[in-house]
Amino acid sequence: MKKLSLYILILTVFLYVPTINSATNISSGASLYLDHGCYSCHGYNGAGRHPIANNVSGIMTSETLFITFLRLRADINPLKPSNSMPNYSAAVINDQEAKDLYAYINTLTDKPPQIENIPTLKNILENAIRKTEK
Ligand code: HEC
Repeated sequence: MKKLSLYILILTVFLYVPTINSATNISSGASLYLDHGCYSCHGYNGAGRHPIANNVSGIMTSETLFITFLRLRADINPLKPSNSMPNYSAAVINDQEAKDLYAYINTLTDKPPQIENIPTLKNILENAIRKTEK
């Protein structure tokens, strides 16, 4: 009986530890996303002017690709930094922080509302169609 409860304890720890870790990664990533101003260009939900939500960004398909993308701008190619997105070197966002950011951004999904659910836009479109039909 003692052995059984020990097995259950060990199993519980193995099952929960990864969940706890990923939850910490996501909440730390959320703070980093705000602290480094990612939201100012990418929106609070990753669907800003340059969408990075997991279902629309090619860079977000892999953690390694994402970190390389961040580093590329400062560490790997410092002589030709991007002038469209800030350059986040390892000194600014370390590897663990970059992983946390990746975990958080991966929770964002770009789900724009359907036109039927935006009455004003729907009216504008219907009026435009009516005008061209005359
Ligand atoms: C000043 C605006 C600005 C800020 C702040 C910014 N970005 Fe960007 N980001 C861009 C622009 C512009 C692009 C697309 C063009 C390019 O590659 O530079 C981009 C592209 C990306 C992409 C690639 C999207 C794709 O699939 O093509 C990722 C991922 C990304 N940004 C993550 C971040 C993260 C994480 C932060 C915060 C640490 C951040 N960005 C902050 C402007 C910004």
